[in-house]
Amino acid sequence: MIIKDYDKFIIGGLGGEKKLRGTVEIKGAKNAALKAMAAAVLFDGLVTIDNVPETKDIHTMSEILKSLGTRVEWKESTNKGTKVLEIDSSKITSTDIDLELAKSMRASVVLTGPILARFGKVSFPAPGGCVIGERPIDLFLEGYQKMGAKINLDGDIYKIEAQNGLEGADIFFDIQSVGGTETLMMVAVLAKGTTILKNCATEPEISSVAEWLNSCGANISGIGTTTLLIKGTDGKPFSSNNSYKTIPDRIEAGSFLILGALCARELQITKCKPDHMEAVINLLKKSGVSIKVGQEEIIITNNSKDRVPFKAVNVRTHEYPGFPTDLQAPMAVFLTQALGESSVFETIFEGRFKYAEDLIGMGADIKILNSREIVVKGPSVLKQLPEGEDLYAHDIRAGFAVVLAALVSKGTSKINNINLIDRGYQRLEERLKLLGADVRRV
Ligand code: EPU
Repeated sequence: MIIKDYDKFIIGGLGGEKKLRGTVEIKGAKNAALKAMAAAVLFDGLVTIDNVPETKDIHTMSEILKSLGTRVEWKESTNKGTKVLEIDSSKITSTDIDLELAKSMRASVVLTGPILARFGKVSFPAPGGCVIGERPIDLFLEGYQKMGAKINLDGDIYKIEAQNGLEGADIFFDIQSVGGTETLMMVAVLAKGTTILKNCATEPEISSVAEWLNSCGANISGIGTTTLLIKGTDGKPFSSNNSYKTIPDRIEAGSFLILGALCARELQITKCKPDHMEAVINLLKKSGVSIKVGQEEIIITNNSKDRVPFKAVNVRTHEYPGFPTDLQAPMAVFLTQALGESSVFETIFEGRFKYAEDLIGMGADIKILNSREIVVKGPSVLKQLPEGEDLYAHDIRAGFAVVLAALVSKGTSKINNINLIDRGYQRLEERLKLLGADVRRV
């Protein structure tokens, strides 16, 4: 089915009832699959990526890869219900990342590393500010320079070249950056000599791609720690016919877990990796949510509005393994239904509270203290917005948060901009309908 940019969701609220029930299967992590797709450029031929979620960002990345001359094809997986991407980078003809496509997705900047490492040059547009904050690329540029690349800014196009190849370097990241760590790691695996990356981010998506690259001939040690030591191949790409299996999406699983706590009597979340979700499971349990954790599943049981109300808890986002910034907005919706006062402090991105105005309009008691902190007092009865007013998805995760608020509330809500939700959640409405929710795409 074609997804149109102007699609909207119409959601019938449950009025605080916890009526949903069923099972939701977690898809592969878009933020791991996107990086594995970028890493495909480091190979001299075909690689396959399994368990790829069919989200809009994945389609955007495949369009960018195709525009470089890469062959990208969707195939059915032998694992039922999942998809495989075949990517063949043997015939890349361009090293210029398409302007329009790159601007629609910041993760495109991660692709600059593998292109530079493989072909010694890359050009791409300077990413603008974005809805979740400034999001500069200084860490990428400093890293490239340290490894011997020259950088020119021509209008708003970066032109980066390393005529004599890239050299290993000692790089300290001022900030733990997911994209920065992944990108310089992917440059270093093909560079000359040894690179040491310090103060790296340790998100599971990074480790998973690093382990895959090692299985294909890379030499990365320290995986999962903040220091990576990488011995490069001196420009030699990895051999084709390698295959990556995308790990479960911990942010999607966390989103459904919060949804279950607010809206479901019983919910089974399967094909997930609870080990990657300790921060959110821990906080929800502290708040009183009854959660059973298995090897690859999480179950919410015996959840009803007549039970003791959830308790307020403070949230402070943090790099992994701390509480993920991507679950900050859904968690704030949860806190509107918890008894007491909770502070939500966002340490990673400025400007990730745009959704709070929407929640206030629905009756939530939220004080926005500044661009980093809000205080949520609960529980509040959430209602549909007044006649003529609609909800908006401000980014992927804030989009999920307003879906959640609409489900919890009394009345019917319309949500605009759901193309942003489609960037990160595959066919959300179909999966919610299976749980008994009244959600329509119009
Ligand atoms: N930063 C810099 N300079 C840089 C790079 C980053 O100052 O050169 C700053 C950022 O502005 C931010 C902090 O470093 O304040 C951390 O950003 P990071 O680089 O870790 O974020 P990212 O790689 O751009 C990924 C995810 C985001 C997720 C963040 C944090 C992908 C494609 N995106 O972004 O996911 O929020 O890590 O965990 O992996 C989402 O999926 O909805 C999403 C936004």
